[in-house]
Amino acid sequence: PDQYVVIGNPIAHSKSPSIHAHFAGICAQHMEYARLLAPLDGFAASVAAFRQAGGKGANVTVPFKLEAYALATQLSPRAQLAGAVNTLSFNGDQIFGDNTDGVGLVNDIVRNAGIALKNKRILLLGAGGAARGVLLPLLSEQPAEFVIANRTLSKAEELIVLAQQHGNGTVKLQSCVWAALQGRFDLIINATSASLSDEVPPISATLFDSNTLAYDMMYGAQMTAFLRFAQTQGAQLRDGLGMLVEQAAESFYIWRGVRPETAALMLELRRALE
Ligand code: ATR
Repeated sequence: PDQYVVIGNPIAHSKSPSIHAHFAGICAQHMEYARLLAPLDGFAASVAAFRQAGGKGANVTVPFKLEAYALATQLSPRAQLAGAVNTLSFNGDQIFGDNTDGVGLVNDIVRNAGIALKNKRILLLGAGGAARGVLLPLLSEQPAEFVIANRTLSKAEELIVLAQQHGNGTVKLQSCVWAALQGRFDLIINATSASLSDEVPPISATLFDSNTLAYDMMYGAQMTAFLRFAQTQGAQLRDGLGMLVEQAAESFYIWRGVRPETAALMLELRRALE
């Protein structure tokens, strides 16, 4: 069977092997997918050894997404804009690097939640790696307006410059500090790591109404502080479990040319969380 891995450090908790085993099963693909713990200073060497052994592709997770970007000999446009790679494909001497996080987020919102983003007002909270990773697929949906707010304004400004360089000029782009945010948004995405300390960026409740989708890229058994705050405003709520499954489905598609069904797996993972 063709061999794939997810490479990270730590890696023991990764759900990717069970997700890809499920996809391989329902798509009748003859493949194996394992965990690979790379030493913190040994990412490139681990990839080289895996390729040497005939490996076909790899997912890359914390803390190696930037190194994977540097290692790739070819990059997709969305990986270029992300500055990070989560999917590697090996073909002879070539290493193709892609980033499926953004399309995973967009597919979870547009297909799974059934919410179109064209001409909508989108707010992205945070300007770190997670935010940058989803820029191009979100902009490709052609929202009317795309605002990035961050604690450190200069980082939001940098992402807006990147977005301008890749944009077609039809999306109104803006960077902002929390206090300057105005009006209601159709979609508010939390890409900050504030959830890890059970905190919410200090944004106004008036940004939400009952038609706003509040999306947290994180997920877990407990609702994040951001989703609890959005809930008190009557917003619609969604956590990052669907993004996890959809980014994996896109990687699977890149490698195997088959797009797996995700609905049953999402239900199964949701039940396992509870
Ligand atoms: P990640 O890979 O998760 O994006 P990162 O690149 O370190 O990690 O980015 C973390 C993001 O969360 C940043 O936007 C950070 O804001 P700063 O750029 O001002 O540092 C944001 N963040 C982290 N903790 C936060 C908190 N308690 N409140 C608000 N924003 C926070």
